[in-house]
Amino acid sequence: MMKNSRQVHSSQDGPHPSLERVVARHLSSHSRRPIPAFSREAYDALRGVLDAHGGPLVLDSGCGIGMSTRRLAAMHPLALVVGLDQSDHRVAKVAASGPLPPGALVLRAQAQDIWRLLVEDGIRLEAHYLLYPNPWPKPGHLQRRWHAHEAFSDLLALGGTLELRTNWSTYAEEFAMALRLAGIEADDPTPFEPGDPLTPFEAKYHATGHTLVRLRADLDAAR
Ligand SMILES: C[S@@+](CC[C@H](N)C(=O)[O-])C[C@H]1O[C@@H](n2cnc3c(N)ncnc32)[C@H](O)[C@@H]1O
Repeated sequence: MMKNSRQVHSSQDGPHPSLERVVARHLSSHSRRPIPAFSREAYDALRGVLDAHGGPLVLDSGCGIGMSTRRLAAMHPLALVVGLDQSDHRVAKVAASGPLPPGALVLRAQAQDIWRLLVEDGIRLEAHYLLYPNPWPKPGHLQRRWHAHEAFSDLLALGGTLELRTNWSTYAEEFAMALRLAGIEADDPTPFEPGDPLTPFEAKYHATGHTLVRLRADLDAAR
């Protein structure tokens, strides 16, 4: 039976007061942290498959057990859809749902490392999905949220159409603000009803009655 999940609680009652300052800092600097061996190996594997595939690239960053990666491969039939997750445990479960369809690949890696290596190699995306990223709702964890992370400039440089889904509307509001600070058009995030859930977390949150919010933006269309 599916467990009920708790709503996101945060002492923040709106966008973080330091958001603008943190985003501005990250937009003007680039991470030079060493890339761990497991992310480097995953990148080499991705490049091998991408070069052989020859089509556009779609990322499903933080893909968990890869349910969405399978579904996205059907939605982007001409692309290589790569699910990335840093959890050994979750990636090990991917095979339990059967072989991945052609055009789908799941790799264990830190998403931010793969983003940086793709940007360094000049590779751009057709689409990028961030489906229920960890919300990091404590104000002190602001810089772990993707839009306030040091990797945000790489995420933007990858281009493509971006889709974020979350059960914490503040996360999506902050994300839209960060996009606008970077000069990218972003509509206000909108609540939506998932017909056929794309991910296990989406299914769980929906079944528990959480409001789900979606943000879409075209990262190739700067203002
Ligand atoms: C809340 S879960 C959502 C999983 C899946 N997208 C879903 O909706 O069912 C967040 C996922 O992001 C992964 N994750 C967190 N930080 C990551 C990072 N820096 N790089 C790659 N994966 C990460 C976690 O391991 C976890 O599987």
